[in-house]
Amino acid sequence: SAGSDENDVVVIGGGPGGYVAAIKAAQLGLKTTCIEKRGTLGGTCLNVGCIPSKALLHSSHMYHEAKHSFASHGVKLSSVEVDLAAMMAQKDKAVSNLTRGIEGLFKKNKVNYVKGYGKFISPSEVSVDTLDGGNTVVKGKNIIVATGSDVKSLPGITIDEEKIVSSTGALALKEIPKKLVVIGAGYIGLEMGSVWGRLGSEVTVVEFAPEIVPALDGEVRKQFQRALEKQGMKFILKTKVVGVDTLSSGVKLTLEPATGGEQTTLEADVVLVSTGRTPFTAGLGLDKIGVETDKVGRILVNDRFVSNVPGVHAIGDVIPGPMLAHKAEEDGVACVEFIAGKVGHVDYDKVPGVIYTHPEVASVGKTEEQVKALGVAYRVGKFPLLANSRAKAIDDAEGLVKILAEKETDKILGVHIMAPNAGELIHEAAIALQYDAASEDIARVCHAHPTMSEALKEAAMATYDKPIHI
Ligand code: FAD
Ligand code: NAI
Repeated sequence: SAGSDENDVVVIGGGPGGYVAAIKAAQLGLKTTCIEKRGTLGGTCLNVGCIPSKALLHSSHMYHEAKHSFASHGVKLSSVEVDLAAMMAQKDKAVSNLTRGIEGLFKKNKVNYVKGYGKFISPSEVSVDTLDGGNTVVKGKNIIVATGSDVKSLPGITIDEEKIVSSTGALALKEIPKKLVVIGAGYIGLEMGSVWGRLGSEVTVVEFAPEIVPALDGEVRKQFQRALEKQGMKFILKTKVVGVDTLSSGVKLTLEPATGGEQTTLEADVVLVSTGRTPFTAGLGLDKIGVETDKVGRILVNDRFVSNVPGVHAIGDVIPGPMLAHKAEEDGVACVEFIAGKVGHVDYDKVPGVIYTHPEVASVGKTEEQVKALGVAYRVGKFPLLANSRAKAIDDAEGLVKILAEKETDKILGVHIMAPNAGELIHEAAIALQYDAASEDIARVCHAHPTMSEALKEAAMATYDKPIHI
């Protein structure tokens, strides 16, 4: 049966970390089993994360453009309406096609797939309560924990996924809320807030910190906040939510200044709790085999992704580092390469981050604040999208490219882009950073015209010299 004979690698969790590790292990000739409790592969990312959110971001953007921008491009429509059920169906189709695609990849690569909840019996044995009601023990020389992360609520707030929703509920609302309050101005809050705002909700975001997405470069953040405000998103900063009461219709939030003080209230039809995610290890039996975790529950691993228990590895959202799908994938490949006796490597300082709003915000490397804190002498090169011919041609010119380079050597330290397709543009910068390029290296590469990538080239020119078009 499934996993009764010994595997070289057993992966617990079939998300972007786990399924990629499993496929890579099989490709390297290792006998591999992957255990997943959800019933479908792809983890948080495919089922309730990256993919459904990007589907809805795209559909809601199309609606918003049709309603508010088509006319100025000379495209006349007599009426534009949202068919929410159809929009959700399109999202669900994208998800199911992709999750089934991974099952196909497992078959192609001969990864054994066990559907069920895995628990450690020993560092080399996992007991699985299978989804069909049975139990099986899967043995492996190496076990990779890739159990990911879960929604984190706030004290005293119970998520019902109807009026008080996590991202999962926000991806499946049955009606467009008139008023949506978002708690937390991070990735999820701004992306899902954008989706519902475009579809007609009045969106208010309550954030504890003095600024939105605290990790962004400050200058980019300011422009980003302004762009979102222009779209109608409201921000209440330096404020914490101390309670949420359910009313017969909707909810009532109690707010308090972050530093304490007088309480106020805010009513909404739906409230989205998006204040971060927490590593998921419930029921796994880590304590039973003595795996060490930090105080927020993340599994501690060395640079080969091995925990304090030999043979037990961990990757992705369940270990420290950026909680991103592509980081989990890189972890998975590197972890398996080490197991196969090769060398793997992931540099967490070079993991790009993208917020898929409109415009998108993407960055790689250090922010200006981080460079300052390092005490390195640096130069800044900037180029506004307003001076980019392609962005002007299509009338979508809100944003900028900002490059930080070491003053003495011109070596690139960080790149920050706000642009309609910043999430695609950022990879040129990621390659440059990976290969220790100077900004002049980017500037001297011939870039096709007219493209938004030229804004990156011009920002690079501005770093050590002068741009042409501004
Ligand atoms: P997960 O994807 O969480 O997968 C873990 C899997 O393990 C789950 O399927 C779970 O069911 C299974 N599992 C857990 N315990 C057990 C057990 N004991 N036995 C068997 N199976 C188990 N990241 C991006 O990079 N880009 C994005 O655009 C993006 N958008 C997001 C949008 C939303 C709304 C959310 C919530 C997240 C988003 N993320 C995005 C983050 C991304 O989803 C995660 O970083 C990524 O999924 C982490 O991968 P993972 O493999 O570590 O864990
Ligand atoms: P987040 O960490 O991005 O943002 C949480 C925000 O909530 C922070 O700004 C924080 O200051 C604020 N906050 C915390 N406690 C609060 C409180 N009590 N009251 C008000 N504000 C509070 O977390 P988020 O948005 O929940 O997303 C979780 C993770 O999922 C992200 O960190 C990211 O790694 C991943 N993700 C990535 C996406 C992408 O790559 N595009 C999209 C969505 C999620």
